[in-house]
Amino acid sequence: MIPNLNLVPFVSVDHMMKLVLRIGVERFLSELAAYVEEDFRRWESFDKTPRVASHSADGVIELMPTSDGRIYGFKYVNGHPKNTREGRQTVTAFGVLSDVANGYPVLMSEMTILTALRTAATSAVAAKHLAPRDASCMAIIGNGAQAEFQALAFKALLGVDRLRLYDIDPAATQKCVRNLQDRGFEIAACRSTEEAVEGADIITTVTADKQYATILTDNMVGAGIHINAVGGDCPGKTELHRDILLRSDIFVEYTPQTRIEGEIQQLAADHPVTELWQVMTGAAPGRADARRITLFDSVGFATEDFSALRYVRDVLAGTGLYQDLDMLADPDEPRDLFGMILRAGREGSVSPG
Ligand SMILES: NC(=O)c1ccc[n+]([C@@H]2O[C@H](COP(=O)([O-])OP(=O)(O)OC[C@H]3O[C@@H](n4cnc5c(N)ncnc54)[C@H](O)[C@@H]3O)[C@@H](O)[C@H]2O)c1
Repeated sequence: MIPNLNLVPFVSVDHMMKLVLRIGVERFLSELAAYVEEDFRRWESFDKTPRVASHSADGVIELMPTSDGRIYGFKYVNGHPKNTREGRQTVTAFGVLSDVANGYPVLMSEMTILTALRTAATSAVAAKHLAPRDASCMAIIGNGAQAEFQALAFKALLGVDRLRLYDIDPAATQKCVRNLQDRGFEIAACRSTEEAVEGADIITTVTADKQYATILTDNMVGAGIHINAVGGDCPGKTELHRDILLRSDIFVEYTPQTRIEGEIQQLAADHPVTELWQVMTGAAPGRADARRITLFDSVGFATEDFSALRYVRDVLAGTGLYQDLDMLADPDEPRDLFGMILRAGREGSVSPG
């Protein structure tokens, strides 16, 4: 794929859209989910650290690194709930994969679209292990940028074909209905969260607000439900009433990060939780019985971005859906970096400033 080792393939937003359309969004989500699960199953082989967050009054900027000893990956991502009011995304991202053997980047990619895909794929993988058997109806509270991806991932992996949508902004729900029509769903646009969760087997919360919000109260959550809580992913930013957590079996990605950022920041630091990889490898049980409430307290972990970049790298070959970036200096004699600049001036390949 990379004829010149000093050029780094870059997947732009335009190329990512074309790649998703070429593969098909549901197939993309299913194949990506397999990569996510494969990497969770080899949890021990990864360097793990809670992401590095820089908080401000309006949002957060985060770096999410990990490595399996052969490949290194990181994502830059922000979260600014007020952004949509100014015509910007709440979440935008890009990421890099590098070769651990020499430290050279081997792929750079937009990750705004890819984050929505990997978040939805991860949610669906978790639900595959935790949701009630034969779950077919999902409520989605918060119908913004992530919502359709969640719906399609649950359709592709679990066969969910009934959606009950609610957003405080009805325009967001209408957008979601429009985007998902003709995709095999029976969709109800609801006027409240209470209405949306009625009859749902799975409740996805994916709202954006920089506060301790109460999107779901205890009385809204009946026995046997699976909750996919995606929107609470920062200190001081949660979606569920604490009483729900006390009734639920809680599953997390990486406990040290989720204790800081997830719904469980509302609980004691030693409240028992199970990590997803334990369920996937059979080291811990998932759903204990049909009446339990299972909660995936999703915050997004670096291995999921690593899996997503790994998937993109593997499917990119032969597509032409990337540009080569001149990101790596390549002097004839590696130590003559300065001489390379002088030669460029003499040869006129770079005009003097
Ligand atoms: N866990 C993860 O891995 C992960 C990944 C990506 C995004 N997120 C988080 O998911 C959330 C949603 O992201 P997005 O890109 O879709 O944001 P977005 O701003 O595009 O959409 C959020 C939607 O939530 C709605 N909303 C806000 N408060 C609500 C309430 N009380 N009830 C119902 N709806 C409400 C808004 O009107 C908006 O339509 C953000 O908080 C983001 O940080 C988490």
